Amino acid sequence: MKNFTCVQDLGDLKPALDEAFEIKKDRFKYVELGRNKTLMMIFFNSSLRTRLSTQKAAINLGMNVMVLDITQGAWKLETERGVIMDGDKPEHLLEAIPVMGCYCDIIGVRSFARFEDRDYDYNEVIINQFIQHSGRSVFSMEAATRHPLQSFADLITIEEYKKTARPKVVMTWAPHPRPLPQAVPNSFAEWMNATDYDFVITHPEGYDLAPEFVGNAHVEYDQMKAFEGADFIYAKNWAAYSGDNYGVVLSRDREWTVSNRQMAVTNNAYFMHCLPVRRNMIVTDSVIESPQSIVIPEAANREISATVVLKRMLEELK
Ligand code: CP
Repeated sequence: MKNFTCVQDLGDLKPALDEAFEIKKDRFKYVELGRNKTLMMIFFNSSLRTRLSTQKAAINLGMNVMVLDITQGAWKLETERGVIMDGDKPEHLLEAIPVMGCYCDIIGVRSFARFEDRDYDYNEVIINQFIQHSGRSVFSMEAATRHPLQSFADLITIEEYKKTARPKVVMTWAPHPRPLPQAVPNSFAEWMNATDYDFVITHPEGYDLAPEFVGNAHVEYDQMKAFEGADFIYAKNWAAYSGDNYGVVLSRDREWTVSNRQMAVTNNAYFMHCLPVRRNMIVTDSVIESPQSIVIPEAANREISATVVLKRMLEELK
């Protein structure tokens, strides 16, 4: 695998899951694979889980790791081509990227949607520039429209906890005070649509995701109806996608906060969230602290998904 930005890059999910469970049994099985290979992790945005789990994955594989927070300690970067650089940004991304590529073998990039221009975000300008100009294998640590390492970890978690071959998985919008990107819900939908699970998306009207991510998922605007008989509840906030409302918070309706009221109509569903989560906005204390909450094992599987992805990229370098 040269680059990893979406579910299709991983290919058939069954062998990827087999590899994940193999690595989970013995995290250091491939520790020789990354000897004298260097991972560079580039963060344009904050992170806890992605930063730590990806670094741990690289350690599992015997790699060296460098981490650069672009906003702390690097020159302020111009990202637009054609700009007269007479402002406060002394370096252009188009030089910075190939320079970064000189010092490493694989590059991970985190660069969120900016919500200034939907086409700019949905064309994935930043990560595609890394793919085009770094001369290195590149993977997404959450880009503008997808978070594939998270979705792969989510899939591993569902496979571990599911009690039926074809569980009902419900992704629900939940309120949040600020506009959040669609990367996690887009990606989760994309990965769920690549399985044969019964997948349902529920959100208030106006929060429809891009059709290419919704795919054949069933969209249900009545949250209680969507939750009926669910085996997994996957909560997430996102800002509006459609038209002039792109990046706008249309609702803060706390009726959508996941609480015992909604969980009561599920099939004793497990509760999932990618974290960080705002308690009593997205989910109540009682639900996230309940035995059905699997947010911590879900976060733990970030190490496993990252190890599989880096392993496959290292194999391509050999
Ligand atoms: N879920 C996730 O990606 O967490 P971080 O933003 O902390 O990396």
